[in-house]
Amino acid sequence: MTDAQPSSFPLNRRTMLGGAAIAALGAAGLGGFLVTENRIGPWRLTARGLVDRLQDTAGGSFPGCRRNHAKGVAVAGYFESNGNGVELSKASVFRAGRYRLDGRFSLAGGNPHMPDVPTAPRGLGLRLFLPGREEWRMAMINVPVFLDATAQDFYDRTLAFAPDPATGKPDPAVMKRYIETHPKTAAALGIIEQGAPPPTFATSAFFGLNAFRFTDGDGVTVPVRWRLEPDSPPPATGPGSGDSALFDGLVADLERGPLRWRLVVVVGEPGDPTDDATQMWPSNRRAVHVGTVVLDRVATESAGNVQDVNFDPLVLPNGIEPSDDPLLHARSAAYSESYRRRAGESKPLGAVVVKEV
Ligand code: HEM
Repeated sequence: MTDAQPSSFPLNRRTMLGGAAIAALGAAGLGGFLVTENRIGPWRLTARGLVDRLQDTAGGSFPGCRRNHAKGVAVAGYFESNGNGVELSKASVFRAGRYRLDGRFSLAGGNPHMPDVPTAPRGLGLRLFLPGREEWRMAMINVPVFLDATAQDFYDRTLAFAPDPATGKPDPAVMKRYIETHPKTAAALGIIEQGAPPPTFATSAFFGLNAFRFTDGDGVTVPVRWRLEPDSPPPATGPGSGDSALFDGLVADLERGPLRWRLVVVVGEPGDPTDDATQMWPSNRRAVHVGTVVLDRVATESAGNVQDVNFDPLVLPNGIEPSDDPLLHARSAAYSESYRRRAGESKPLGAVVVKEV
């Protein structure tokens, strides 16, 4: 698969960076920026800069691994489309039927050996194989809002929330200062912290967060967001114990039988923000259940499954288009840069080892 795209994709926003931030980047980090005006800025944020920042704050060097969501496991199954999505989009995936997919559960962070902290964002990447060699790729997390509205905010927060090399933990004073000066992040954290994270991957919901556009057969376009709602028969096995408690629980759950999630598409109305993933849409928006994701296999990441896949959120079938959310192009470019780097490195054994049964 040739997923790589140009790595120096310029991102939209320019900003001033403080001297401390620049010092923390080090020589490697500076390679990702173009100095366009005076001594310390403004800078032009690039995909290379974003991935350098993730790499520099990962707490070590992990060749061959994703530069974010490094810890993960491969899964496979199918999407059972119920036909309800046809009224919203002409994409073939919404015609009733079964479409093969593969995917990857992950935890946010650049260290593939990180312990399964319950509050670490949980990721699910999916790749649906559609007629005519089309694909629908998505990468979702288990919280209903994102902490950053722009790539620049993501870049700045990654440093502010990074573990301090001296203690191995984020510096609470630095985090506090960042939150106090970033009201959108503060508001999003307030929403996320309203509930404890569910105990397992199987009981987690996953949110696409960024808005997209659906176009139907008559050319009518509507803004949408989507989420996966857990729909597996209880009881889930529950988390295991130890550093891979969440992943071990997932493997145990899948050994007992398939896991299911309802795919729900939420239709936006005029005035709903489509360019800001930190903001929720009102809860009374129309929600259409368009089908069910069924996962029935799990395996250690390898060249034969999702190791060499880039779950680029801009790989979309005809009938689904990106919105004006600036994160989408930034994500696509950063994932491509991360993919390019890891593709050229020798691969470690998958971070989560699934025993053959
Ligand atoms: C500017 C914002 C963001 C940046 C710079 C960023 C960056 C990255 C990078 C570099 C990777 C590794 C890609 C690879 O090597 O294949 C990654 C993976 C991932 N990201 Fe993001 N991300 C951003 C926003 C988001 C958002 C909003 C979501 C959720 C909606 C998300 C969910 C994920 C998931 C689930 C993965 C793992 C996919 C996999 O298993 O391959 N990210 N991200």
